[in-house]
Order: sequence, then C-alpha cells, then structure tokens
Amino acid sequence: MAIKVFLLVTACVTLQMVAAAKNKGGSSLPTKTFRGDATFTTPGLGACGKVNREGQLVVALNRQQYGNFADSREGPWCGQCLRVTSDKFGTSVVVEVVDRAEGREGHIVLSEAAFKKLASTDEGRINVSYKLVDC
Ligand SMILES: *[C@@H]1O[C@H](CO)[C@@H](O)[C@H](O)[C@H]1NC(C)=O
Repeated sequence: MAIKVFLLVTACVTLQMVAAAKNKGGSSLPTKTFRGDATFTTPGLGACGKVNREGQLVVALNRQQYGNFADSREGPWCGQCLRVTSDKFGTSVVVEVVDRAEGREGHIVLSEAAFKKLASTDEGRINVSYKLVDC
C-alpha cells in the first residue's frame, strides 16, 4: 500500500516536471494565473523577432514578466500562448506572445483583433486574468 502511494506520488511529480519543462529553451514558465489589465494596439515587428499583422491574435507582455535578454528573441515566453479572460465580460481569447510592452507587471497589450474578442474597443482598458496554455 505504502509503495503504491509512493509510486503514484512519484508519477504525479514526474508528470508535473514534464509539463513545466516542455517550454522552448527548456526553461520553465510559471503556470499560475496572473491578474492585470489589457489595452490594444496594431501589431508590427515584435521583440520576439516576427512581424505580426492586424487580425492576428497576439499579445505583448510587460517588460518585467518578459525578462531581460541581450537578444529579446530569446525570451522564453516567445511563441507561448496565454488565455486572457476579461473580468467584466467573462470573455476569453488565446493569444501568442510576440512582443514586450512598457507598463507595470500584469499589463499586457493585445492586438486589436484579440481585444475585440474580449470587449468593445470603446472600453480602452480592461481588467483581465491570464494564464499559460497550449497554443
Ligand atoms: C481594475 O483592477 C484594479 C486593480 O485591481 C482596480 O483598482 C480597478 O477598480 C479595476 N477596474 C475596474 C473597472 O474593474
């Protein structure tokens, strides 16, 4: 019985380690839910090195969370996806991290197309929660 429990615990820990390690570059990103606020912009060349166009569901992450790298394209969040949910409307959208943004921790800048999945652009700025998910 004790052995079975031990094996089960070991299996769970191993699975969690695999889940945490699968990010690009082998770095593990936090899987917790972040709280903050979102604005929007027209995407262009992002810090992750790709040119992004209007209509794409993408996001820029605040500088603190993005991290500092000699080459910003090496940011471990690049190419990862976040599920962003509006507090007020309960709407959500999955967006790819392609850029970094100014602003305090928790601030994100969505493409206009992504923002529109959450709220009217008349809202300007909305409170959100966001979390790492599979793309
Ligand atoms: C957004 O969140 C901030 C910080 O939690 C809070 O002070 C503010 O009242 C919220 N705004 C709205 C419109 O809910």
